[in-house]
Amino acid sequence: MTQPAPHLVVLSGAGISAESGIQTFRASDGLWANHPIEEVATPEGWARDPERVLRFYDARRDQIRAARPNAAHRALANLEARGFEVSVITQNIDDFHERAGSRRVLHLHGEIMVSRSSVDARMRYPLGKRNIVIGDVCDQGSQLRPDVVWFGEEVPAFAEACDIVARADLLLVVGTSLAVMPAASLIDELPLAAACMLVDPDESLVVPPGVARLALPAGQGVPALTRQWQREGRLFVPQH
Ligand code: APR
Repeated sequence: MTQPAPHLVVLSGAGISAESGIQTFRASDGLWANHPIEEVATPEGWARDPERVLRFYDARRDQIRAARPNAAHRALANLEARGFEVSVITQNIDDFHERAGSRRVLHLHGEIMVSRSSVDARMRYPLGKRNIVIGDVCDQGSQLRPDVVWFGEEVPAFAEACDIVARADLLLVVGTSLAVMPAASLIDELPLAAACMLVDPDESLVVPPGVARLALPAGQGVPALTRQWQREGRLFVPQH
């Protein structure tokens, strides 16, 4: 019987898209510094001023459409194309992993390129080139909203993400401050025998015990790792 291929699971956050020109959230000049979370990323903010929320996500969507995946997204897609088993769990709402060519991508916090019913999260509609306007409704007549998980809302994909991490041989955490639950707790689902490695240029980030760190921007760190794995034909945590 042949062994299943070692499984790389990637948990990505805003930092992996920083070099594509997309702002992260918690940097001093990050998105949350200029946009109050409660106004634009909560169900209460949506109830108070849906136009403002739509404008905020229109701007995000327009930026993402105009930008491109970077070397980190491409390196992960390339690794998968070379026959490695790669699953991506992303907290990002952008579509850069898919545009780079990754085929197994789970969006924990939703997708900016998709709209959904404001009363039933299961009713989802790809936006294509459009944005959402007031008056756009789902098949049941309710206003459409971005398919984004807001603060205070459930994370429907969390159970699936836990199952994926529980099947990992190596968890690669890229560009996330691990400040948001339940995403940050995914690391706890890792099997005891599995390894975990973090790529993030912020050296002050507190790394959980047993986690290796590569303090580089994703666009340098991720391709450096995938090149080594491809060269040796296996997944491992490089010793520095
Ligand atoms: N490469 C890798 N990491 C980077 C880079 C880079 N070029 N630039 C910045 N980073 C790192 C920062 O050091 C930080 O640790 O990316 C991380 C970004 O952290 P946050 O802004 O907190 O973003 P994230 O962890 O993805 O946020 C999680 O919070 O607001 C919610 O729903 C939103 O999905 C988001 C969640």
